[in-house]
Amino acid sequence: MIRQITLQPPTGAAREDALVLPLYKGKKLSSGSARMDRAFGSVAALLVADGFAGERGETRMASVKRGKRLCHTVLLGLGEASRATPEDVADAAGAAAKVLLASRAQSAAIYLDDAFAGAALDAADVTHAFVKAFGLACHQLKPGPTARLARLSLRTTMTARALSPSVQRARLLVDWMIQVRDWVNTPGNEMAPASFTSDAKRALTRDGVTCRVLSRAQIAAEGMNGVLAVGAGSREEPRFLVAERALARKNWPLVCLVGKGVTFDSGGLSIKPWEKMNEMKSDMAGAASVIAAMSMAEALEIPVRMVALAPCVENMPDGTAFRPGDVIKLMSGKTVEVLSTDAEGRLILADALAYARKHYQPSLIVDMATLTGGVLVALGTRVAGIMGNSPRDLDDMRVAGDRSGEPVWPLPLDDRFVSMIKGDVSDYKNYGGRNASVITAAALIGTSAGTTPWVHIDIAGTSWNDGSGASYQSRGATGYGVDLLLRFLEIVAARA
Ligand code: BES
Ligand code: ZN
Ligand code: MN
Repeated sequence: MIRQITLQPPTGAAREDALVLPLYKGKKLSSGSARMDRAFGSVAALLVADGFAGERGETRMASVKRGKRLCHTVLLGLGEASRATPEDVADAAGAAAKVLLASRAQSAAIYLDDAFAGAALDAADVTHAFVKAFGLACHQLKPGPTARLARLSLRTTMTARALSPSVQRARLLVDWMIQVRDWVNTPGNEMAPASFTSDAKRALTRDGVTCRVLSRAQIAAEGMNGVLAVGAGSREEPRFLVAERALARKNWPLVCLVGKGVTFDSGGLSIKPWEKMNEMKSDMAGAASVIAAMSMAEALEIPVRMVALAPCVENMPDGTAFRPGDVIKLMSGKTVEVLSTDAEGRLILADALAYARKHYQPSLIVDMATLTGGVLVALGTRVAGIMGNSPRDLDDMRVAGDRSGEPVWPLPLDDRFVSMIKGDVSDYKNYGGRNASVITAAALIGTSAGTTPWVHIDIAGTSWNDGSGASYQSRGATGYGVDLLLRFLEIVAARA
């Protein structure tokens, strides 16, 4: 775990165990990096000669002995400077972090001036990407005595004043992404709606966000029958988390974030096959990311009024469970026939959107959910699917995806897809068939959005790393979506 990060000029002695020299493709080592290299053992030229091309994520390491300890130098390729994105830089930086973790170095100097020069990115963005990737890569799934790399010194001629906001922001982001990962990786037997929401409430209250948790009876009194139905088969009662910040600032836009909080999704009576059912402990990743974004928005003082909502349930089969064929009257007043109890997320999210509109009349609703297996088929594990009713907000979400290094891609959602979930015995049905299943799932949520601008983000693919993820991700929960939401909120604040 990284405990200390300092900004320092690129001079002086080699106090750290290791030096990282990032280099864009086709670029030569600068005089600045040569100076750092001399302090650490003069091995860079040798490493370059070893066929180093500067491809993104390419690394070369050499170590020299200094007294009793080893001093390592890692050459790191950043790829094409003109095409560098926050995602690319972070992915490359994570590769260097992994090399250092294997080397047992406890401290490292990262020479950043070459990473700033000629890049398509601001120095602040490059710095943010490095701190984020190192922080996340050093987060071990199984903590043990071998957890190493604890101190980073970022070496640059730029002033600490110019870069320390990015360092602080990235450190806070890492802390929250790790909290999200820990929540999402927590097994279903250790996390129920009640324990998850009380944990989240504690964290939010600590950070100055107003928070309350609705009980089962309060959920019933609100008419959120979708939440009740999905939670009916579990011994664990549903909960509904409501968090608020800055609501008194009436001239700021009011954004409502909604996160899917299924603490375990067995599929219910439409039970899932056993393979990978264990991964369904991650079905509250949307709620976790929304809670993290809420707290960070408060810490960063983003000028947006905010409400965060998380319907939390466990979806289980039981004599008390809801059934295929049941018709549920959602809080919106619309009726839905349940074709599959495994299509549960859209039911609880539709209720949450209705709650948001009734109690807050937000200018914008964003929901984040591990909603469909289909989004994994369509977009894989590195890009989330976005849908909604507001082209401007969808465009802004794409920009936020690029800035955060958590990319998203739009799918069309219009009446063609709503017609696919029109019901036979009810207004709607909760499953529209295999075709366009990512979109028809979103369409059911959208039946509660009405005229409120709304963006839905399906993170079923991106919230979990099966091994195909970025270099700084461990297996399992990724913490995806926190920075995406923050960058989006920053855009909303800027355009207001
Ligand atoms: N939580 C799942 C979606 C999911 C799948 C998340 C894979 C993460 C990884 C959701 O509740 C679900 O079961 N969706 C089904 C719905 C279908 C049975 C109607 C799906 O998309 O396959
Ligand atoms: Zn689910
Ligand atoms: Mn399901």
